[in-house]
Amino acid sequence: MARRVFRRKQFTIVGMKPLQGKVALVTGGARRLGRAIAVAMAEAGADVAITYRESVRQAEQTADALQVAGANAIALRCDVTEENSVRKMLQSVLREFGRLDILVNNAGTYNTASFEEITLAQWDGVFASNVRGPFLVSREALTALRKANGKIIHLGSLGGLRPWADHAHYCSSKAALHMLTRVMAKALAPEVAVNCVAPGMIDLGEKAAASFMRKMAKKTPMRRNGSAADIAEAVTFFATAPHFITGQILAVDGGLEWA
Ligand SMILES: NC(=O)c1ccc[n+]([C@@H]2O[C@H](COP(=O)([O-])OP(=O)(O)OC[C@H]3O[C@@H](n4cnc5c(N)ncnc54)[C@H](OP(=O)(O)O)[C@@H]3O)[C@@H](O)[C@H]2O)c1
Repeated sequence: MARRVFRRKQFTIVGMKPLQGKVALVTGGARRLGRAIAVAMAEAGADVAITYRESVRQAEQTADALQVAGANAIALRCDVTEENSVRKMLQSVLREFGRLDILVNNAGTYNTASFEEITLAQWDGVFASNVRGPFLVSREALTALRKANGKIIHLGSLGGLRPWADHAHYCSSKAALHMLTRVMAKALAPEVAVNCVAPGMIDLGEKAAASFMRKMAKKTPMRRNGSAADIAEAVTFFATAPHFITGQILAVDGGLEWA
């Protein structure tokens, strides 16, 4: 898998930030939630590597934003479902930064289909991106993360906690990722803490989703949908939390899980 490295810029930051001296890797970090998470890592003081698969231009723009936030930043092409691609990407991260402290397994796939219409290709594609990907990137990053007493943060979903009739493949994949979080927390202890942020309804300003979002906000105890900032803050919480916190699935959903 070809890789592409965007420019890197040196900054000296005055004053201690919580992730100063740390290196974070955010998969699927070019746009949407991944971009918000990557920028939050940079603002917290980390140097940041992001990966992208198709979104080259957005990856370049995000790398620029990370540098503006004061980070050394690289963007690397990677398909998280492909072993060679993941290995090459991690080699580049370690060559560039020499260490890895925080892995955010954000890359994922979402699509809607009624149960009887889900094709095998759809089922396998969703599981490959949402379960095999986080497993594979974590496994390949493990030596570096162990060395750093690092952290892994998965992006799960409210859909992994609640059944959504038109998302059997997606919900099942995120439920699997939630269980993978708990298994990994046990398997990778005591060196690596593993947690999961499970976003609920997140409003990213898409016009096509506006009326659905209004409906969901009314159903949500907090009377609004989430924002990218809500998710980035929750990921930053785990990234900066005591290492003793592990195996947790944190729903960031305004209380929708229990409504
Ligand atoms: N947005 C929400 O409301 C919401 C709610 C619950 C959970 N989540 C979870 O939070 C995470 C981020 O959400 P999002 O909506 O920002 O995600 P998204 O836009 O659906 O996907 C994020 C990125 O994942 C990358 N990606 C997908 N499959 C990949 C693969 N096989 N290899 C490498 N990269 C791959 C894509 O990169 P390229 O664009 O470069 O191809 C994409 O930009 C996802 O795991 C999602 O399931 C989101």
